This record gives sequence, structure tokens and C-alpha cells, in this order.
Amino acid sequence: MSDHDTPAQAAKKLFIKTYGCQMNVYDSQRMAEAMGAEGYVLTENQSEADMVLLNTCHIREKAAEKLYSDLGRLKPLKAERPDLKIGVAGCVAQAEGEEIVRRMPVVDLVVGPQTYHRLPAMVRGEAPKIITDFPEEDKFDHLPQQRATRRAPAAFLTVQEGCDKFCAFCVVPYTRGAEVSRPVERIMREARDLVARGVREITLLGQNVNGWHGMGEDGREWGFGRLIRALGEAEGLERIRYTTSHPNDMADDLIEAHRDVPQLMPYLHLPVQSGSDRILKAMNRKHTAEQYLRLIDRIRDARPDIMLTSDFIVGFPGETDQDHQDTLRLIEQVDFGTAFSFKYSPRPGTPAYERAEVDGAVADARLQELQALLTRQQKAAQEGMVGRTVGVLLEKQGREAGQMIGKSDYLHSVFVDTTTAQIGDLLQVRIIESASNSLHGKIVSAT
Ligand code: SAH
Ligand code: SF4
Ligand code: F3S
Repeated sequence: MSDHDTPAQAAKKLFIKTYGCQMNVYDSQRMAEAMGAEGYVLTENQSEADMVLLNTCHIREKAAEKLYSDLGRLKPLKAERPDLKIGVAGCVAQAEGEEIVRRMPVVDLVVGPQTYHRLPAMVRGEAPKIITDFPEEDKFDHLPQQRATRRAPAAFLTVQEGCDKFCAFCVVPYTRGAEVSRPVERIMREARDLVARGVREITLLGQNVNGWHGMGEDGREWGFGRLIRALGEAEGLERIRYTTSHPNDMADDLIEAHRDVPQLMPYLHLPVQSGSDRILKAMNRKHTAEQYLRLIDRIRDARPDIMLTSDFIVGFPGETDQDHQDTLRLIEQVDFGTAFSFKYSPRPGTPAYERAEVDGAVADARLQELQALLTRQQKAAQEGMVGRTVGVLLEKQGREAGQMIGKSDYLHSVFVDTTTAQIGDLLQVRIIESASNSLHGKIVSAT
């Protein structure tokens, strides 16, 4: 309704800071759209904002503590301008709720990841100031239709939320709640809408995305592989990715989709966390290192050129030097394109929280050793691209004139020299050079 408000009325400005995973990036976008319907426009400049919204992450202690240091910095701004609204959304909001306001009275609103469709009503003062329940209703049914504005060529689309896996270290089952899959019809509608607004690549998001199982357009339950096949039929959608997956949900039909669906990019983020069976068991990951390796074999049989990436936690309670060696060995066996590795952070409320921690200096040393190995693999994978011809989706102008930057099929940043290509073009590019954080390529043809 307020989409058509008089343009003369000065729009209010909303500044959003997003921490954490891609799903938070997606949620921030949806919150911006919901607030857009209330007459708020986004600003990049916090000091001119009428409302500041911090969309937070609770995964590790450092991530959660960032919220409080940012709120501390907002205090003087709020003292100067008492009508400034400060909202906290996301996973810290869910985990800490009222505690946030108690600790930081500058905060006006606290809204969890399942209830942000109520944000506009909260801002209007027509709903409680703190909402962190897990409602029966689906927030997506209550959010405004995404607006008909042009979008960047690569977009996220949440298809699944929450997690029932309860890994012993992880807050996600508590902050995001139980697993919920969105139905096919809504996903297809949102995908088509994104494509109509210029999107050519969609990354399907879920905390456990390959566990997605939803009501299909034929009234039957579909698995994730089938959803990807259906998206592969969508006119104008050139690239499909998904993240993050659990090894135990890599079903046959999904592996086959990697073989059969050309739009599905040859890139898979499949976190393993550790290469030690003892630690995998203590983490409640419910598979062994050997099972992970066999799975990788099957995925590579289906799609030989696939690039694999992963997450690792170092210094999980009880991790011995032998366990650490087992992890290094698994990394050597798989050969990852890149990977994220983290020092274990004990999170209140999780099963591992009370367990005796590994000595901090030992964990630091292990992390360094593991990262050195992963960095070597990452560098080799990137340099291995030189001489190959890969797809590149152009996303922005380069720093120098006549240069544009895009992402390869393998998510590498690629510079190409061109004066004619446009943002959103998908090109075949021959890689000629590998620099520290990017590749340089020459256009072979448009696809
Ligand atoms: N659903 C995804 C992970 C989401 S969290 C999965 O199952 O893989 C992203 C990553 O953060 C995890 O893969 C893990 O490596 C890391 N992580 C989660 N909790 C952590 C903790 N307590 N300490 C350190 N790293 C953690
Ligand atoms: Fe966390 Fe494990 Fe669920 Fe991933 S699968 S979100 S690591 S509990
Ligand atoms: Fe962080 Fe929540 Fe994502 S804890 S990693 S923002 S699901």
C-alpha cells in the first residue's frame, strides 16, 4: 500500500549491518523489502540513518560479542538523536532475547530470524518490542512480494531453514529452530521473479539445504535433486548453486543432478569438520571419515570436474594430536578447492559446552598447520585454472577502465578485459593468469 506514497514525503533511511552466513544476507534483503513497504530506503551511511538494524550471528563467541561492541559505538549516536531506532535481528536476537535490552538499553527492538515479518508492526509500535518465538505461521507468507526492482545477477534464495542434526558444538538448531522446507511452488515463483529482475544465478540456501524435502507441484513430496532438476528447466536461470549441505543428506538423486543438470555448478561445499572418527562421533556428525571419502568418490564419479570445499573445527574437546593428524590426512586425500577452518568456540546451551577444552595454544598451533595445508591446496586449485576455459558471470566493473570482474563456475573472482560486455553477461573465458586473490582471463565467447 505505501508503495505509492507521495514521493515528496522524505523517505526514512535504514542502515542494515549483516553478520554471519548467507542466510543472514538473504534475510537482511527481505527485511529491507519489508521496511521498504513502510517507506524506508536503504542507506550505506550509518550516521544519516533513522533506523539501524544489526542482523547478528551467534555461531562463535567472537561473532556474538561483535554485537555488543557495535551497540557500544551506537550509544553516542542515539544520545545525540533519541528518535534513532536501533533494532537487533538474527541469531543473537533469538538466543539472547531480552538479555540484549537488559545489557544494552539503547536497543529498541529485538526480532528473531523466524519472526522478522513482524518488524514493520514493531517499528510502528503495534507489536511487542521483543519477538523471538517460533511461530506456527510461515514468515514468507507474510512478507511483501519482493519489489519489481532490478537485481544483481547473482542472488540467494532460502529454500530450507533450521536444523534437526544437533551437532554437539552448534547453536543453529536453537537459533533457527527445527527444519522447515519451503514448498516447490513458492520456490519456483520466487526464482522466476528473480530471473525476471535480471538474476541469472541463484544460490539455494538452507542450514541443511540438501535435506530439503518439500511438497511438489504434483502434490507429492520431492527431494532436493528433483527441485534442482525443476530449476534447471526454468527459462533464463543459467546457474544454480546450493549451500550448506550435510554429508548424510547427499542423496543419490542429488548426486545424479550433478551429473545431469548443466546449470548446476561444479562446486560443492560439504563440511566434514574433522577427519577423526572419534571426534566425528563426539561431535554427533553421524558418519565416519571413510564414509565421507566414499561419498566424495561417488560425487566425483558423477561430476569429475567438481570442486569441493569444506569447514573444519580445530580443538574440539578431547581432540588429540592423533585426531588432528587424521584430519590433515583426510584433507590430503580429498584435496579441497578451498575451506573454512575455525578454532572451536564453546557455545552456551550446546552439548559440548561443558566439556574440557583443548589447551588454547595447542589449538592455535593445530589451526595454523591445518590452514597452511588448506592454503596450499587452494593455491594449487586456483593455479590449476590457468589454461582452462570456464564460465564467468560478470558482476561488476573492475577498478581499471576496460576491465570487469565476475565469478567463475568455481566461484573464483575473474578479471576480464572488455569494453563491450555488460554486468550479467555469462561468458566463456580462458584463464591466462593467477594472482593472489583472483584470476585473469580472456573472453572466448558469450554463452
Ligand atoms: N549447517 C552447516 C554449518 C553451519 S555453521 C553444516 O552442517 O556444515 C558454519 C560452520 O561454522 C560449521 O560448519 C562449523 O565449521 C563452524 N562452527 C559451528 N559452530 C562452531 C563452534 N561452536 N566453534 C567453532 N566453529 C563452529
Ligand atoms: Fe549446526 Fe550441525 Fe546443523 Fe550444521 S548440521 S547447522 S553444524 S547442527
Ligand atoms: Fe550465524 Fe545464525 Fe548463520 S548463528 S552462521 S547467522 S544461522
